[in-house]
Amino acid sequence: MKLLFIGDIVGKPGREIVGAVVPKLRAGRGIDFVIANGENAAAGAGITGAICQSLLAAGVDAITLGDHVWDQKGFEHEIAGLDRVCRPANLPAACPGRDHLIVEKNGFRLLVFTVLCRSFMGAKADCPFLCADALLQKHAGEFDGALVEIHAEATSEKQALGWHLDGRVTAVLGTHTHVATADASLLRKQTAFLCDVGMTGPHESVLGREIEPVVGRFLDGMPRRFEVATGDVRLSAALVEFNPDGRASGIEWLNLKQT
Ligand SMILES: [Fe+2]
Repeated sequence: MKLLFIGDIVGKPGREIVGAVVPKLRAGRGIDFVIANGENAAAGAGITGAICQSLLAAGVDAITLGDHVWDQKGFEHEIAGLDRVCRPANLPAACPGRDHLIVEKNGFRLLVFTVLCRSFMGAKADCPFLCADALLQKHAGEFDGALVEIHAEATSEKQALGWHLDGRVTAVLGTHTHVATADASLLRKQTAFLCDVGMTGPHESVLGREIEPVVGRFLDGMPRRFEVATGDVRLSAALVEFNPDGRASGIEWLNLKQT
């Protein structure tokens, strides 16, 4: 079986390439599950209920989020009504929204959740290691495989969490930095791992934003609007192949342009 995990969708360019590429990819590569991080899908910051629905209609099965989960005003009131969207699991328990999803396809139940790591991150979050342990234990018997997304800055914390979960989940895949890493691999006990899947959006940019204002801000420190860029739009994703027992057998990094 195969799962496609799409890295941070940035703004309209990111949403458009998902709509254009995912249906073809899904059919062409025989993909069972499509999961996407949508935390930057609304003009580069947060997401709305309407955008969630449009991504789901485009062929995404489930949407994950990150530290920008609450950036769009009012989303905290919408998230509870979105049954294929989950917020980071290790946010305080009082936060609205689901802390995990179980997506079923072709008789296989895939547990999906995101944890925020804590190095160089501002969000208020519980320990991602203990949170992952607790969710896997709590839902034991309810899933056949699991995709754990690590939304984090530090590659060390991401690698450590990968090893911590090795053999217990199908894949541990990173997001947040918007820059892909070249370490797609199978860990010792057949968990697929990649520190960062990279960004789905305009790559002729600084992390998806127009270049000039960001460079200007570094030069003089003056505030500017960072609009979402438009050039060189690509979809970055990890394609994980796995067995019916939930163990991964391969991982491939994809970086696709719209054709
Ligand atoms: Fe993020």
